[in-house]
Amino acid sequence: MPQIDLSRLSLEEKASLLSGQDFWSTRPSEDAGLPSVVLTDGPHGVRRQVGEFDHMGIYESLPSTCFPPAVAVGSSWDPDVAHRIGAAVGREARALGVHVVLGPGVNIKRSPLCGRNFEYYSEDPLLSGRLGAAHVRGQQEQGVGASLKHFAVNNQETDRMRVSADVDERTLREIYLPAFEHVVTEAAPATVMAAYNKVNGVHAAQHHRLLTEVLREEWGFDGAVVSDWGAVHDPVASVLAGLDLEMPGPSPENARRIVDAVRAGELDESVVDRAVRRILALADRTARPSDGADGADGADGADRTDEADGADGADGFDQDAHHRLARELAAECAVLLRNEHGVLPLGSGQRIAVIGEFAATPRYQAGGSSHLNPTRLDNALDAIRTWADGRGSPVEFAPGFTLDGSGDAEGLRAAAVDLARASDVAVVFAGLPESEESEGFDRDTLHLPAAQTDLIRAVAAQAPRTVVVLSNGGVVSLEGWHDEVDAILEGFLLGQGGGSALADLLFGGADPSGRLAETIPLRLEDNPSFVNFPGEQGHVRYGEGVMVGYRWYATTRTRVRYPFGHGLSYTTFAVGDLAVETTGDDSARASLTVTNTGGRAGKHVVQVYVATQAGPVRRPTRELRAFTKVHLEPGESRTVAFDLDRRAFAYYDVQDAVWAVAPGDYLVQIGENAETVTAEASVTLTGDTAAGHLTLDSTFGEWITHPVVGPTLLQELTAALPQEQGSHIGDRPELLQAVQDVPMKRVVGLAGDGLLDETLERLMARTRPTG
Ligand code: BGC
Repeated sequence: MPQIDLSRLSLEEKASLLSGQDFWSTRPSEDAGLPSVVLTDGPHGVRRQVGEFDHMGIYESLPSTCFPPAVAVGSSWDPDVAHRIGAAVGREARALGVHVVLGPGVNIKRSPLCGRNFEYYSEDPLLSGRLGAAHVRGQQEQGVGASLKHFAVNNQETDRMRVSADVDERTLREIYLPAFEHVVTEAAPATVMAAYNKVNGVHAAQHHRLLTEVLREEWGFDGAVVSDWGAVHDPVASVLAGLDLEMPGPSPENARRIVDAVRAGELDESVVDRAVRRILALADRTARPSDGADGADGADGADRTDEADGADGADGFDQDAHHRLARELAAECAVLLRNEHGVLPLGSGQRIAVIGEFAATPRYQAGGSSHLNPTRLDNALDAIRTWADGRGSPVEFAPGFTLDGSGDAEGLRAAAVDLARASDVAVVFAGLPESEESEGFDRDTLHLPAAQTDLIRAVAAQAPRTVVVLSNGGVVSLEGWHDEVDAILEGFLLGQGGGSALADLLFGGADPSGRLAETIPLRLEDNPSFVNFPGEQGHVRYGEGVMVGYRWYATTRTRVRYPFGHGLSYTTFAVGDLAVETTGDDSARASLTVTNTGGRAGKHVVQVYVATQAGPVRRPTRELRAFTKVHLEPGESRTVAFDLDRRAFAYYDVQDAVWAVAPGDYLVQIGENAETVTAEASVTLTGDTAAGHLTLDSTFGEWITHPVVGPTLLQELTAALPQEQGSHIGDRPELLQAVQDVPMKRVVGLAGDGLLDETLERLMARTRPTG
């Protein structure tokens, strides 16, 4: 942090620096040598506004490349994809005069209904964290800061600015915080954005425990904490909690409240200074030569926003190259869910009926603050025609439905069905219209509009072969038509190159290599959050605990349509030679061989899960602990290895507030997806012998089953008990069972005359955590 003398600034000036100068930039201060920092939305492109400002996607922004949104990147299972997007966004941000691009979002997809799921990566924290960290690295390597959001437990849009996400500590630590923790500790984002919602009753933007104790003291975050736009309620509580910058601004009223609090002795001025210093450090960190040598340009020049007015900026960006990149990366993200009779890739000479308005009018991003103005936009219909031209495949198109539901639905459907009947293969482009999902509200159903499902069924009944291509930000139900179609390619939202990428995949120019980053359930009611989403009377109870997404489906053996991790390729893969060895007390190394057993080059996602019943808490059946995406030529084999550290085996122990590894057996499983294990090997870990820390409140059962002191206690008890009560207490199961749930302090009482006191004291000492 730059050591700057803040004594030149009055308290009023300092307080005024703690909120923005406008919608998208911070206040400059000549006295403090502080230039203005421009923060703007993203993160799958740059939403740079220069005229009218808003954070709801209402007004236009300057053109920038719309890369695949997070929902698609999640499905790529490829940190390299996230890194390349981050880097390209960083280049465009520089060109557009932006210092911080707001994102990525690493919130967990708790319910498939969340309106913002398209902005998040996954239902799994490991996958979310790895992708988020890669994005941040890519972007920050370009000198453009990231803003990791929305910290924390922001998993729904309903009542999003007030609702209290009520979540227990283990669930917080194991599910909702790890992605943030990973990005903060591995990629050091310049800023973290405090969310709108409350966490256990306290606004995230004034949550001292989250913003200071966890984020800074535990994880070592040294950047600035920025509020979500309009998330500050009590500015004094926020700055005390560790929030540095309120956005948007200006907020003279809040500045005054901060000044008053200092004058009234309720807020130490050093707390204000600390926040100012962090904003200075942010400006310093994101400064670039065009901002002026000392980072400030003087009174007016200190406002660095001028750089973007020409749209191109000093260093410009290569729109063609970025569009090609958007297309290439989009092809890495789509998930081939089903492919019966080898209908895909499409062969030569087939008569192709392209059906569905989305083929001509692509759905490629969603509404709200991340809504971009793309530099160009590919549609699948044109791209299919280009591919088909070279292969002697005639292409006809029928819209089949309208996006807003207007018009003659039956007539449109009938025309599409006629076309399908006369084709060799019908490719139906279905999905959610932009009006059905957006930031700001949650969906209330997983179903596609009825006009589309009716169309799919009608086409499938007539066409020799039917392929469905989907465009949607949150998962949609496939029920009612799944079995009637031959193939399903789930594109989610693929950005501006998505139309071409889908055609590349349909014709085999690219091999599908996406895998689901979230489960597709059979019924909405099967989702673990169902009865507690979106909450009531200001509270949403995270009643499913750690059993989020596939953790729940696998543990309860609930059938799903497609599990987390599922995705097909045009080639086939086999894994073998799994070997797992411990590499320390509580870590292991797994290695295995992956072979491309098919006839085409392709990419396989190796998914490593850990399964255990060890420890005192209920564990999900399996949890993703490592993954990698491997490119293999036909017949090629490669050995891949994974280091599984302590955390891969740990649970969060709420009694001792530590990550604990329970002594015991662990299965390392290689999953085709979260449901299908193709290889497994077990390891035994020493674990934390102190994990079961005993007190006099621990039950008799916990004492005698304790791995370290249990046997000793049994022995000593047997020796101490009068003979007529039995020669060995361990031989009296009914006695043990009757008292197993009695706290030891009561058992001591029962035994009377201090019999156990000394023994228990000694044994307890042996179970105390060592660190
Ligand atoms: C959103 C943020 C966004 C901000 C600025 C808020 O409404 O929740 O994700 O970065 O607006 O547009």
